[in-house]
Amino acid sequence: MKTILVVNGEKYWKDILPAYTVVQKSIQHTSWILKSGKLFVADRDGVVQPDAILWRVGAIKPTEIQTTALDLIALAGIPCVNSPETLKIGFDRLSMLATIKKLGLSVIDFDVVTKSTNLKNIKMDFPFVVKVGNYHGGFGKVLVEDERKWQDIQDLLFVTEHYITVEPYINYVRDIRYIAINDKVWAMSRKGKFWKANIETTDFEEFEPEEALVNDLKMLQNAIGADIIAIDILEEENGNLHIVEYNDIPGLSGFSDELKYELAAVLTRALS
Ligand SMILES: Nc1ncnc2c1ncn2[C@@H]1O[C@H](COP(=O)(O)OP(=O)(O)O)[C@@H](O)[C@H]1O
Ligand SMILES: [Mg+2]
Repeated sequence: MKTILVVNGEKYWKDILPAYTVVQKSIQHTSWILKSGKLFVADRDGVVQPDAILWRVGAIKPTEIQTTALDLIALAGIPCVNSPETLKIGFDRLSMLATIKKLGLSVIDFDVVTKSTNLKNIKMDFPFVVKVGNYHGGFGKVLVEDERKWQDIQDLLFVTEHYITVEPYINYVRDIRYIAINDKVWAMSRKGKFWKANIETTDFEEFEPEEALVNDLKMLQNAIGADIIAIDILEEENGNLHIVEYNDIPGLSGFSDELKYELAAVLTRALS
């Protein structure tokens, strides 16, 4: 039986991939060994020599072990979903955003500073959104409504070494996620308790994908060679759309089980 290593992610992959030995490990607790071209991954539960890897590293702190592991997977030539090359483009928010921008898609306007003291040179109308560094899952993101809060937040931002992006707050009527796996596309809108639709999400609604956005998503998917990719889009009342990010390790919650099987099939095809 071939062995699939699931790095982080959901607990259900064993059930979706019954024809394989599925071993799951957290990147935070692993050590990686490349020996004579063969890859071994160890943690306190033991060592595994994977035949394929399902990379499901979600909203944790981005650390060097993640990019090192991706390089070792590439060097070992093991099938990995997404590919290490694709995952490395998406690893940092700025290179992810640059990729969307280069393709001419309607990415949200944003300013960037690498030192918080330069924020005083950034003039944006309230409300706006500040995003610190390279985090997912809503982490490091704050809505700034007025001068008083902005002053406090700038003081807080002084302590970070990460780059800071500032973008207009989009008073959206729908927060939309399109997700592509292989050649299939699904669409969903989400509602959150507060302004971040992905945090304390109260509502998921799947709907029929629209052709123009499917084409945009497929162009992006092809450009970065992704097996799986999602884009997050904010829709204004007047119909204007703003892409806030793409995610090459998107969560699948809220969608049907079909997506899990589709993703598993991408991996098993690479193994056969
Ligand atoms: N500029 C913005 N205006 C309004 N809402 C935003 C803006 N940026 C992000 N959000 C909300 O916050 C959520 C999370 O932001 P996002 O940039 O997708 O980061 P991540 O999902 O990686 O934490 C979005 O889905 C959206 O609901
Ligand atoms: Mg998002």
